Amino acid sequence: MTRTIAKHDNLRLADIVDLERYPIDDLEHPRTRELIARCREQLDETGCSVLPDFIRPASLARMKAEAYRLHSKVYWSEQSHNPYMTRDDATLPEDHPKRTFQRRTSGFINSDLLEHSSDLRALYDWHAMTQFVGECVGVWPLYTWADPLARCPYAVMEDGHYFPWHFDGNEFTVSVSVEQPQEGGVFEYVPNMRTLDDENYDQVSRTLKGDRSQVQELVWRPGALQLFKGRFALHRVTAVRGKGAWITALPTYVLDPESVNRPERSKQFYGKALPIHFERETRRPDTLTD
Ligand SMILES: [Fe+2]
Repeated sequence: MTRTIAKHDNLRLADIVDLERYPIDDLEHPRTRELIARCREQLDETGCSVLPDFIRPASLARMKAEAYRLHSKVYWSEQSHNPYMTRDDATLPEDHPKRTFQRRTSGFINSDLLEHSSDLRALYDWHAMTQFVGECVGVWPLYTWADPLARCPYAVMEDGHYFPWHFDGNEFTVSVSVEQPQEGGVFEYVPNMRTLDDENYDQVSRTLKGDRSQVQELVWRPGALQLFKGRFALHRVTAVRGKGAWITALPTYVLDPESVNRPERSKQFYGKALPIHFERETRRPDTLTD
């Protein structure tokens, strides 16, 4: 019975992922080993690795159609951020990067809205995908997230929306580009901007003021899988202009299968907090802000 289900799953997933080019259901396959080695090397060197045409065109069309069917349910949020997503610190000089705030506007189609037959949900719930990501980023065990809203949403940006320069708090991000707008919505980054020992505030400051000397563009084409380590690379999504949207699926993998967002964060980004967010908040092992 189990074997039948597994076979059935793989048949469905062969419709979603180009398994001929990326045989990720077989981690011992020479092409998969080579692929994982290349991903690791690129992540070490620049913090990012892109797998073009990872999603099959028909599946990509289904994801896009799903996102558009759910468009009226996008939770839009707007907030000013510094690159560290911290509060203003009036003890620092006014032009310090920690005091440089830019406005973000973006939205999420929460994961609990994904349709029953969603290709994105099937991809996310497929254990081989979690294993493959774990191999690429060199982290195991890795889990899909328990947060019902944030585990695998579609992020959406439209005309006039912008996601400013920042570092990520988490170690790595996995994303699938679903749609790119007519103009803008370009992923820009400065690899290795900071290290554990050096915040490199001077260069961060120069980049925030418009210095392009170290900025690189990472071309996202719909269907590509992007792996990105954003803790040390400063990055942003440039303003979206004109027709079309920037739609990106964010399958999120975590080290702790029990954790969920704090209620406040969940409300801020996903528009609500569920009982699980309150229940698990009291069971946290530490009192860190997030
Ligand atoms: Fe980020």
